[in-house]
Amino acid sequence: MNFVGEHILSVAQLDRADVEQIFAVADKMTPFAQRERVTRVLDGAILCNLFFEASTRTRLSFGAAFNFLGGSVRETTDMASTSLVKGESLKDFAQVISGYSDVIVMRHPIDGAVAEFAEASRSPVLNGGDGSNEHPTQALLDLYTIKKELRARKMDLDDLRIAVIGDLKYGRAVHSLIKLLKLFRNITFHLIAPPALSAPENVVNELRETGHEVQHFEQLQHGIQGVDVLYVTRTQEERFSSSAEAREYKGLFRINQVVYSQHCEPETIIMHPLPRDSREAAQELSVDLDSHPNFAVFRQSDNGLIVRMALFALILDVVDKVEDHSAPVGWITDARKWD
Ligand code: NCD
Repeated sequence: MNFVGEHILSVAQLDRADVEQIFAVADKMTPFAQRERVTRVLDGAILCNLFFEASTRTRLSFGAAFNFLGGSVRETTDMASTSLVKGESLKDFAQVISGYSDVIVMRHPIDGAVAEFAEASRSPVLNGGDGSNEHPTQALLDLYTIKKELRARKMDLDDLRIAVIGDLKYGRAVHSLIKLLKLFRNITFHLIAPPALSAPENVVNELRETGHEVQHFEQLQHGIQGVDVLYVTRTQEERFSSSAEAREYKGLFRINQVVYSQHCEPETIIMHPLPRDSREAAQELSVDLDSHPNFAVFRQSDNGLIVRMALFALILDVVDKVEDHSAPVGWITDARKWD
């Protein structure tokens, strides 16, 4: 696709070549994210971040990515402080906000709301997560991370075997990741969830129709065997009708050092979109794995920066100008290496 001026609302917009293009641009962004060089290529441009649900990584990394390209960020984080609470429609809101910004990122609790907003927006809109529907940029950074981790093992995304664990019903990051992996060849999915939280039927059917292998598991120790990646997720408590209902599912699957070493192949990559639920009742991914070399979770969040920089550069058509507007960093001597 030609990214210039486009909204990014769903991974369904992308084909394999698009994904590979985003990843190639992300690689080019690494020196800027690592503070080896600075670029002012988006000097004067404004990103408007509209986050109407809790967020740390997505909001701040979109903002930091835009700043790293030289642009400025305006944001609002609480629907109660916008005129949406006065009954303003998403369409009117979009007309107004898009007049103030060159690009917009929106997170919204309702499935489809970001697409509705985008219809009336004069600036490109990126979906930062809409309800339990999709989280396309999370899936892109997850896939970029998997590809990078596999490269160190001399493997690529085709023939990948992945276990996706937890709340597969409401997890939008999971929905987008599964749909994105569908673009590759011969993927084996181990879907590990209690029956009430299994992945939506249409998502699973599409996988089967495109020739991928899908196996369902209710027992963690069976599902995590024989895979290259564990993708662990938390119970999406905010989507349940009550905390009590969500509590029934927390703590059902717990990955820790003992479980990992007993059941996983030694090279299995450990991932989580974050946040982890560290409260005692949950703990789906134990801190006792944090120092394990296959623990890729914080490499994942770092990769979010360059993948989001790549999307901005493609959408605002500055990929080939980034270098021309760049210089070595003058304010730090030791570039922070996170790679
Ligand atoms: C995810 C989300 O918001 O969907 N978080 C994130 O953006 N990294 C996953 C989650 O909240 O569990």
